[in-house]
Amino acid sequence: MMMEIRSRFKTYQVDFVDSLQSIQQLAAQKETYFVVDRIIYDLYRDVLSILPEQRLFLLEALEEYKTIDTALLICEQLTAMPSKRNTHLVSIGGGIVQDVTGFVATSIYRGIPWTFYPTTLLAACDSCIGGKSSLNYKKFKNLLGTFYPPDVINIYFPFFKTLSNRDYASGLGEVVKFNVIAGQNRFNAIEKDIDLVLAHDYAVLNKYVETSLYFKKTFIEEDEFDQGIRVLLNFAHTFGHAYEVSSHYAIPHGLAVAMGMITANNISVQRGFLTADYAERIERVCNKLLQFIDMDDKWFALDVILNAIHKDKKQIGNSITAVLIKREQTLEVFHNIQETEVELAIKHLLEKRV
Ligand SMILES: NC(=O)c1ccc[n+]([C@@H]2O[C@H](COP(=O)([O-])OP(=O)(O)OC[C@H]3O[C@@H](n4cnc5c(N)ncnc54)[C@H](O)[C@@H]3O)[C@@H](O)[C@H]2O)c1
Ligand SMILES: [Zn+2]
Repeated sequence: MMMEIRSRFKTYQVDFVDSLQSIQQLAAQKETYFVVDRIIYDLYRDVLSILPEQRLFLLEALEEYKTIDTALLICEQLTAMPSKRNTHLVSIGGGIVQDVTGFVATSIYRGIPWTFYPTTLLAACDSCIGGKSSLNYKKFKNLLGTFYPPDVINIYFPFFKTLSNRDYASGLGEVVKFNVIAGQNRFNAIEKDIDLVLAHDYAVLNKYVETSLYFKKTFIEEDEFDQGIRVLLNFAHTFGHAYEVSSHYAIPHGLAVAMGMITANNISVQRGFLTADYAERIERVCNKLLQFIDMDDKWFALDVILNAIHKDKKQIGNSITAVLIKREQTLEVFHNIQETEVELAIKHLLEKRV
């Protein structure tokens, strides 16, 4: 698969690759600098040990390192490279590595070439395109950020074999979200295939990563800087972000999105936008992903959730804004979500595991 994405910065490319040979070729070029997830480096040492030590930064993929300090440390190392503006940044890892290296790639010398190898399913099916990068600052998650896509994204499926069940299911949370947004036919397909993808059937997964990226591509090409229709991709994220915050990030992003979908759809059912039957089918698929996490009731205290929602940078004013499914094929942004609706939806999320 080869896909091109048009962006204001450049046209960039996503490839599905069946070997990591290109990493060796990049390592042979003197102007490349590598930022690699430390766990990936240890797991794939047979390929990655050829990376020259003086052009390598190993990053611990923890939220507490997704900071400007880490970005500056990498910048400092890059200034030692003789190639300067021709320095080619290569990063290998999940969303944390992507966020840090995206920030570096856009900032240093006002932008340098960047190649990214996503190693988590979440990064491969969603975050690798769209160009967003964000860093945490003090207690604020994703406060600092820019838009700057990689030049090339190489997706190598065998990386997903070593993901924990939880991180693998987290990636599938975004896949399910894309297929729910895309309408009933697309949801029918993922509902039928979910057990196969959960069992790491990569022939089937391949199709879903590809269609997820194609689906996202239409939104980001039309609205790269998130001023219009791209907001619809934020479906399930108002609540998802709140659950990430209330669990202190014990719930990984994509699983929080799965919970956010159940919450948003319950509000759609309360409003008569969606049949209880269809919402329940979506919920059943989400719950297959949520089996990989123990849900702790204290993460769902109403006041904590409401507080987290009101602090979200995407909220405007005092009311609650969220994207809801209005009918099976249409999504709409609502600014009038009531706290009582959220309360009922959280209750539903906790008590009814279908
Ligand atoms: N920029 C965006 O558009 C965007 C979108 C969504 C999420 N994010 C950010 O992405 C981050 C989450 O990223 P993520 O879910 O991709 O995971 P991650 O980068 O947090 O990695 C999760 C864990 O998996 C490990 N890991 C990574 N690849 C592995 C592999 N192939 N085998 C074994 N272990 C592996 C990592 O070391 C880490 O322990 C969050 O910080 C979130 O804010 C960014
Ligand atoms: Zn997301």
